[in-house]
Amino acid sequence: MFKPAITGSGVFTPSQIITNDELVVAFNAYADKQNALNADAIAAGAAAPVPYSSSEFIFNASGIEQRHVLDKTGVLDPEIMHPVLRARSDDEPGQMAEMAVTAASDALAQAGVAASEIDAVLCAASNHERAYPAIAIEIQQLLGCGGFAFDMNVACSSATFGIQAAADMIRAGSISKALVVNPEICSAHLEWRDRDCHFIFGDVCTAVVLERVEDAKGAHFDIRSTRCATQFSNNIRNNNGFLRRTRPGQMEDRRDMQFVQNGRKVFKEVLPMVSSHILGHLADEQIAADSLKRLWLHQANKTMNDFIGKKVLGRVPEPAEQPNILQDYANTSSAGSIIAFSKYSDDLEQGDLGVICSFGAGYSVGSVILERA
Ligand code: COA
Repeated sequence: MFKPAITGSGVFTPSQIITNDELVVAFNAYADKQNALNADAIAAGAAAPVPYSSSEFIFNASGIEQRHVLDKTGVLDPEIMHPVLRARSDDEPGQMAEMAVTAASDALAQAGVAASEIDAVLCAASNHERAYPAIAIEIQQLLGCGGFAFDMNVACSSATFGIQAAADMIRAGSISKALVVNPEICSAHLEWRDRDCHFIFGDVCTAVVLERVEDAKGAHFDIRSTRCATQFSNNIRNNNGFLRRTRPGQMEDRRDMQFVQNGRKVFKEVLPMVSSHILGHLADEQIAADSLKRLWLHQANKTMNDFIGKKVLGRVPEPAEQPNILQDYANTSSAGSIIAFSKYSDDLEQGDLGVICSFGAGYSVGSVILERA
């Protein structure tokens, strides 16, 4: 069996930023507009007014200060309230493939690997912009990778599940080098008109290169072990899909055709699942939790991460031990833990251990134990 390693990582960050204050101004303008439209029904007690959002609530509830998006103009226009992206012809690179190429090029450069050496491209993300051909095959073609490519979706855990799938192929010997990319255009499946969640998501793309340990050229991370787990839940759900037009009533502007969550339940149910998943994985690998140098956690909520860090390490983690990026990026679905890994891993020394852990819709949890080599 071959041992896999992560030898490069890259992040594509969209240039446009929406601060909490900008977001709240737009949301409250939308609320005013809706409340004026429904003034009679509201006055008659037949409809509830849309309440205002607040930057203070957003920061206190989530730790989020801003988010990067592909298009802020549409999102902040109270008449639109979603990103507006240019339609592309079939002969142009797609939106997701374009983001992925930028992130992947950085990851390949860091690994010192030519695109042509890659045997497998996995595009692992929460949503794919079309049904087929696979976005991964388009990325393979744009970069000039060899081998094969496929898309996969495990929502917020897509990246860690993708790493396990690629690592398993390397272990088994069917491939020697893989590229796992996570283009997350969360702004397009977020309901920006829903006060309970309008602040949650941002856009980004991450990429990692996996190789056999013996092929790694520079500083890298050996993958000591990977573990994935799932348990069905409706508490994070999006009902949009290819059967939509077949179902009477589903073509309307229906709330459940975008991201819907029961945030409180997610909070309560996912926290114990994640901490016991990480602790069980470490115990089976005979790694003492307090010997970990870093936790690169899924980036949805600061309180959630603080809780998991404390539960896993058995004490309050130092900020450097459990870096958060959600204040700058918001929740970027599967890419969040990989952004944290990419930005906060260079300082680890040989032999240092860390865990990448994602969690979210499904429910799904994925953990990747890494050792700095
Ligand atoms: N501005 C102001 N007030 C708001 C608000 C907003 N944008 N959104 C909600 N509120 C209000 C609510 O109406 C509620 O008021 P009430 O107590 O009078 O009813 C109060 O704030 C608390 O709302 P609640 O939804 O219970 O907040 P919360 O503390 O649970 O935080 C989340 C919400 C979503 C940040 C939090 O539940 C969370 O992070 N959950 C896990 C999310 C997650 O990991 N999801 C995975 C997605 S991939």
